[in-house]
Amino acid sequence: MTLVDSLKTALARREAKEARRSLTLVPQGGRDFSSNDFLSLSTSPAYRDRYLGHLNNAPENAHFASGGSRLLDGNSAYAEELERFVAAFHEAPTALLFNSGYDANVGVLSSIPQPGDLILYDELIHASIHEGMRLSRAGKRKMFAHSSPMALREVLKAEIEADRDVQNGTRNVFILVESIYSMDGDMAPIKEFIEVVDDLLPGGNGYFIVDEAHATGVFGPRGAGVVQQLGVQNRMFIRVHTFGKALASHGAMVLCGPETRDYLINYARSLIYTTALGFPFLASIRTAYELLSSGETEQLQERLQQLIRHLHRRLGGLKVDPSVTLFEVDHFPTSPIFSIRTSQPRLLASHCRTHGYIARAIMSPTVPEGKERVRVCLHAGNTEEEIDGLVELIRGWLDSCFRLGAKL
Ligand SMILES: Cc1ncc(COP(=O)(O)O)c(C=O)c1O
Repeated sequence: MTLVDSLKTALARREAKEARRSLTLVPQGGRDFSSNDFLSLSTSPAYRDRYLGHLNNAPENAHFASGGSRLLDGNSAYAEELERFVAAFHEAPTALLFNSGYDANVGVLSSIPQPGDLILYDELIHASIHEGMRLSRAGKRKMFAHSSPMALREVLKAEIEADRDVQNGTRNVFILVESIYSMDGDMAPIKEFIEVVDDLLPGGNGYFIVDEAHATGVFGPRGAGVVQQLGVQNRMFIRVHTFGKALASHGAMVLCGPETRDYLINYARSLIYTTALGFPFLASIRTAYELLSSGETEQLQERLQQLIRHLHRRLGGLKVDPSVTLFEVDHFPTSPIFSIRTSQPRLLASHCRTHGYIARAIMSPTVPEGKERVRVCLHAGNTEEEIDGLVELIRGWLDSCFRLGAKL
């Protein structure tokens, strides 16, 4: 079999499982119930005007392309000032800019855990963290059941019993969670996790790494994230905030102590061996953080919460025929991400798309097999009328499935 034949066979296997991915164009003029642009900043005149202002007032010496790695020619006073600004906003000692959240997670996980260390990770943690863990030198990785402090306790207890070095502090223990999960939209019980770790590792060798990708801009004071909402920023070893979602930009920052920042500059290969973000991206990150820190996005956060309550109510009012075996709405009360579970997510998403509503089917392996769903995301720029239209579409689809005797 040639290489191309092997590739074709792998694709055919995915096709047979209805899990083959393909690139699609976003339909023009469709109502957005899909993107991660939760605050609708990417279409906001306030964002655009401020951003264009920054571009027009670029420092004399600004290079529009960075021209190299941060460690060579890609650094600038502008980038360093931006890091200080973002660190101050997040009440963190320092911040280090990466080209994406993916790069940040890979850089952190591949370099920070030391040989022999233990990593404990939530079963639904993001693919980029898995990628980083694969490259890591940690001695052991153990998964715990999603968002379960009890499961974390059990896994950690078993590791402590098996290896005295875990409790006496010789080994570092990393606990990896997302603050808001990207596919289900639920919030991690971070305070309860801290209690477990404080209880079982009183020596202080438990280190939290929290990915705030989906919380940035949406949760917490002025969108600073869940960790600051809970006031536990001093208990986090590393926080990762990404800018490609609610902040309408690109890149990510790792919030950490100065020694960790310095270590990453020396060892994180996804920072060292890549061209740094150029001025236009730095300016767009700056624009977003100025809007957050001035409080201008607070009304968008509030508007989003109104819309979340509206969709939550409307979906709750959907009468589903009892013969329908799988139609469930999973939703965390304040999250803009809704997971609509059905056995036919592709049909439902396509029905919505045909009527001008963009929502996407999320299939395995992006989510575990059996957990396929339509992921619906709300944005500050959606309207109640659009939401009502979406819910009516879902109702109509369910009715027609029922009439056709389709098994859901
Ligand atoms: C939880 C989480 N972490 C990290 C990333 C990666 O961020 P970026 O898109 O900036 O690479 C994503 C984006 O898909 C995400 O959902």
